[in-house]
Amino acid sequence: MEYIRRFGTTTSKTLFRVAIDGPAASGKSSTAKMVAQRLGFNYIDSGAMYRSVTLKALRERLDPSLSENDSKIATLAQSISLQLVTTPSTTPNALPITRVFMDSEDVSELIRTSDITRNIGGIAKNPEVRAALLTKQRAMGQGENHRDQNTKGIVMDGRDVTTVVFPDAELKIYLQADAKVRAERRYQEMKAKNLEGSYDTILKELLERDHADMTRKISPLKKAKDAIVVDTSNMTFDEQVERIVSLAQEKLKFDN
Ligand code: CDP
Ligand code: CDP
Repeated sequence: MEYIRRFGTTTSKTLFRVAIDGPAASGKSSTAKMVAQRLGFNYIDSGAMYRSVTLKALRERLDPSLSENDSKIATLAQSISLQLVTTPSTTPNALPITRVFMDSEDVSELIRTSDITRNIGGIAKNPEVRAALLTKQRAMGQGENHRDQNTKGIVMDGRDVTTVVFPDAELKIYLQADAKVRAERRYQEMKAKNLEGSYDTILKELLERDHADMTRKISPLKKAKDAIVVDTSNMTFDEQVERIVSLAQEKLKFDN
């Protein structure tokens, strides 16, 4: 494969890749983290990479919605150093914690603000930004930048992981849920963190972001033909984790 040649054999590994895509708040990142912990795999949050580039652009006062800034923002994405460090939880039911380091700075909280979420659309549709992050994501899929160098697999979630990043992933999942259920989950999450936000605004912004993610020309969110759909609208968190873990275990058995 082309990228194996590019990165040489030192980082090339055969890892079992679980790729998860789906719309905002369908449960991707929390499910992916727990699935990774259960399987002893590394978790990679591709959305955090787009969020970090957005933060860097805004700090440089480059408005991502203006196409005249596209190539300057692409240069930032090419030079950005990103590290995703997931620490397994010590209790079985607690979620592992992922910290995101951008150019060695811990930006884990800074990239989750609504300012970043509102500005991310311009970054996500920038082809050169996507190309730069794609290179990093595929390298991570080959074992680069991993905390646990002995891991046998990775779980990566995002919008184009099953279609563009790893179209040949060993397991591909499309996680979805009704928009109202997703908005309610986000609302509850924000309430638990004492953050401001009305349910109606959350629902409106979520639908707008779905639309932007599904209709952009480059790497839109769509279900890969061979992805397994898991609709979490009426599932408990544990049920959806169990479903994906069993699918992975079935495939792992078959592969060995
Ligand atoms: O957690 P949430 O689903 O709200 O978003 P995220 O996974 O952090 O991703 C934030 C945004 O980054 C998405 O709305 C997409 O616009 C973009 N993204 C993307 O274009 N491709 C990916 N593989 C991951 C995220
Ligand atoms: O990554 P994505 O934006 O797709 O979703 P998330 O950040 O994992 O957020 C989903 C939220 O819904 C989390 O607070 C989950 O605990 C919660 N949740 C879920 O994922 N699945 C359920 N069946 C019920 C709640």
